[in-house]
Amino acid sequence: MQRRGLAVRMRFVADLSQCLFDFVIQLLPTAEEMAVKEDVRKLLERLIRTIEPDSRLLSFGSTANGFSLRNSDMDLCCLIDSKERLAATDLVTMLGDLLERETKFHVKPLPHARIPIVKLSLDPSPGLPLGIACDIGFENRLALENTRLLMCYAMIDPTRVRTMVLFLKVWSKRRKINSPYKGTLSSYGYVLLVIYFLVHVKNPPVLPNLQQMPPLRPITTEDTHLAGYNTWFFDDIELLRQRWHSDNTETVAELLIDFFRYYSRDFPYNTGVASIRTGLLKKELKGWQNDLSGGRYNDSRERNRLCIEDPFETDYNVARCVTKDGLYTIRGEFMRAARVLSTRPERAIIALAELCE
Ligand code: GTP
Ligand code: MG
Repeated sequence: MQRRGLAVRMRFVADLSQCLFDFVIQLLPTAEEMAVKEDVRKLLERLIRTIEPDSRLLSFGSTANGFSLRNSDMDLCCLIDSKERLAATDLVTMLGDLLERETKFHVKPLPHARIPIVKLSLDPSPGLPLGIACDIGFENRLALENTRLLMCYAMIDPTRVRTMVLFLKVWSKRRKINSPYKGTLSSYGYVLLVIYFLVHVKNPPVLPNLQQMPPLRPITTEDTHLAGYNTWFFDDIELLRQRWHSDNTETVAELLIDFFRYYSRDFPYNTGVASIRTGLLKKELKGWQNDLSGGRYNDSRERNRLCIEDPFETDYNVARCVTKDGLYTIRGEFMRAARVLSTRPERAIIALAELCE
């Protein structure tokens, strides 16, 4: 009887892996969508150069790191290579005016936001049936680097890493726990949770720690630091593929089930910080404790419910927007997911549909 139970479970897990691949593949952006987005980037770059001739417009976020879903937004970063450049606030205002005059975009310049950006959107068209949403920021070189780091992690084990990340992105959107404005976690935060789990929780690890691998040649602080932060990581993925291989043979379904179990039960939310650079850290050590006595509105208390260290900006909690209620909801969803995947052993496809309903 027990053996039969085990066989059913093994079959379920194998089916679930297949269902996860099939599910994710149909949600990938089409080649046409990618081409339209690249055309939009080029067009915007051309227009920005009429204001700042030495500028470049680069993609970051999911469009550039391999974790993009169909119709995901476009994150663009404008870099200006000359020393004499306009202040970001002026540039945002001028660019806003220009785009309004010259293009069909709906334009919303936010020159006085903490990070000045121009928000753009485009109505649906045959190539982009759901239109397009795009943010243009300025000089955000750290975001370009963290995008490259995530892309390298995705390339080491594309099948398992990308499938897990893409599934979790869809799941978190469908379950409505992917909105920093409403007190839950950004996509970037979920990706970091997955990488933390695959590097530091799984034993043997599925991924190496790219930020702690020895460099191939001597490097200086000048080579590695950006805005005062150490952004070095091992990025020769071709070489890494030849030299490093994971002893972890778990399937994507096994990893996903364990991911939900870990974050619903085992991660020490009250005291721990998930750091992909270092592993599990103590909130206390980072000055991020959320049990500081203080009034009801103690800001740090709300800010540090869930702590995820940025891989480069190590003094920055990527999950600072997650509120007490937000974390309660997120953990509730992790528990629900763990439960659905352990109590619906008949049909993987049904479990998956229930998970995302
Ligand atoms: P979707 O837009 O949902 O497809 O996901 P995404 O992968 O583009 O993630 P998101 O829009 O949350 O973030 C886009 C990029 O902005 C990330 O890849 C990071 O480079 C950067 N970013 C987002 N949030 C933060 C943050 O809190 N801190 C830092 N340093 N960078 C961030
Ligand atoms: Mg994005």
